[in-house]
Amino acid sequence: MNVCTTITQFRSALKQLQQEKIQHSGAAEATVGFVPTMGYLHAGHGSLLARARRECEIVVLSIFVNPLQFAVGEDLTIYPRDEQRDLAVAAEYGVDLVFMPTVAEMYPAGATSLTTVHVTQVTEKLCGASRPGHFAGVATVVSKLFHIVQPDKAYFGLKDAQQVAVIEQMVGDLNFPVQIVACPTVREADGLALSSRNVYLSAEERAAAPVIARTLAEVDDWLEDTSLTFADLQDRLEAAIHAQPLATVDYIECLQYPSFADLPQDLSCAEWLAQSGRRVLIAAAVKFGKTRLIDNRLLGGGHRV
Ligand code: PAF
Repeated sequence: MNVCTTITQFRSALKQLQQEKIQHSGAAEATVGFVPTMGYLHAGHGSLLARARRECEIVVLSIFVNPLQFAVGEDLTIYPRDEQRDLAVAAEYGVDLVFMPTVAEMYPAGATSLTTVHVTQVTEKLCGASRPGHFAGVATVVSKLFHIVQPDKAYFGLKDAQQVAVIEQMVGDLNFPVQIVACPTVREADGLALSSRNVYLSAEERAAAPVIARTLAEVDDWLEDTSLTFADLQDRLEAAIHAQPLATVDYIECLQYPSFADLPQDLSCAEWLAQSGRRVLIAAAVKFGKTRLIDNRLLGGGHRV
């Protein structure tokens, strides 16, 4: 496994690896699967790496805590990091190349970018509303990484379903020649969605946090009642999370996915899902102490994630 910290080093290592793979296999090309991360890898990242390993000849992992996607007062300075452990995990999953740049390498003008990518509409609600500037930071760094790595496929977790929608929109609008592969959320045994931020939780908060996943899972039972409207669903979701005293709701919302258009509040959820054939995202951002966790469920269109 080759670890590169500069763009020049990375490009030449990738080119060499592609040539070696092509020579060895006799195939016309060696496909590149890319997993962009901010490090502190967990089994959720592992599932993306494993899928990339199964589907592509070359697997590239990037580890970069992107300052552009953190607002002032967010957790950039304390974001958990463990490069040595990350490299060991990457090796276990058979990663070929790791791109681990410094902030100066990615943003030579400092922790800023004079050219930024702004995706509109799909960034207006949920995390786009509660974290202004966040998705411009994500879209900018992901487009830079796509230019550097030039992957055939890029793997993202559906825990960040809005991020997936933003990147798919950007890739379509700007004609990036990459296939976005959205992968299911990986969970702890008690349902808590894996996140690098889970390490911030105190023991008490950790015990309380699965309320989000439990509530999202209960939706299946609620939907058995065909008279349940989207307004009723919203009320039940809010009541269930508010019942946990350690939880402070940032948002819990049901929206169409991936357009994030509003839903008809007075219609039956079950009937709308069956008749429209569209998908609904139930997305939650909930704080436990200072730790803000996100999770979601996708319904309809064959999805039960
Ligand atoms: O999901 C993440 O870890 C980050 O938002 C990403 C996609 C690596 C961009 O910094």
